[in-house]
Amino acid sequence: MVEIRELKKSYGARTVLDLPRLTIAQGETVVFAGANGSGKTTLLRILAGLIRETSGKIEAPESRLYMPQQAYAFRGDLRKNILLGRGDKAEADRLLAQLGLSHLAEKKAKLLSGGELQRLSLCRVLARRCDLLLLDEPTSACDAEGAALALEAIEAYQAACGCTVLMSTHSPALAMHAGRLIVLNNGTIEADGAPEEILAHPETRWARTFTAGWQR
Ligand SMILES: Nc1ncnc2c1ncn2[C@@H]1O[C@H](COP(=O)(O)OP(=O)(O)OP(=O)(O)O)[C@@H](O)[C@H]1O
Ligand SMILES: [Mg+2]
Repeated sequence: MVEIRELKKSYGARTVLDLPRLTIAQGETVVFAGANGSGKTTLLRILAGLIRETSGKIEAPESRLYMPQQAYAFRGDLRKNILLGRGDKAEADRLLAQLGLSHLAEKKAKLLSGGELQRLSLCRVLARRCDLLLLDEPTSACDAEGAALALEAIEAYQAACGCTVLMSTHSPALAMHAGRLIVLNNGTIEADGAPEEILAHPETRWARTFTAGWQR
């Protein structure tokens, strides 16, 4: 379970995140949507332990994995990038196949295209187990097929380990797929519920505008 109470993050006088109360059950998958600068990355980075909240209380599992918004490659081939000196080669190969990257396994990771690199970053995260998986725009660079593979891999991982999954996105497909969608606006929660309900009965004008294009 993830419990957030009175969570605030400020930079100088500017508060970029202000969440009075948020509860997410163990095993739940929640997608965060919202405009650029609405606080998605800030929230995920706080939960990942990479930055400190200004005030508030967070209860979350100790075992967490985080995939940053910017995908990156280490030196060496794709397999080496997933294993990082430990782990199981067969598991790395399974993940490469799952993400449609098997044909590139022996290539230098630094030469990958943007969408390939993002799928490799996902493989690197999914090669480890955790209780809380934090994915910042995991399909933003992927084409439709790559995004579908990424989503399937995330779901398979979640089904296998029962972890909680929190991810951010600008992708209508990913947001609509979520069991629970939370719309952030200026660091606050605009809407929280089933995506179809948010689309059918937008709680605010902003959410209505934001989601208007998704149905087309
Ligand atoms: N280190 C920092 N110093 C000052 N302001 C910051 C800092 N980090 C983030 N911000 C501000 O906090 C706000 C929220 O940023 P955040 O990265 O969480 O947005 P986001 O929802 O992830 O946006 P995007 O969709 O563009 O990824 C932004 O207005 C950003 O400029
Ligand atoms: Mg972001």
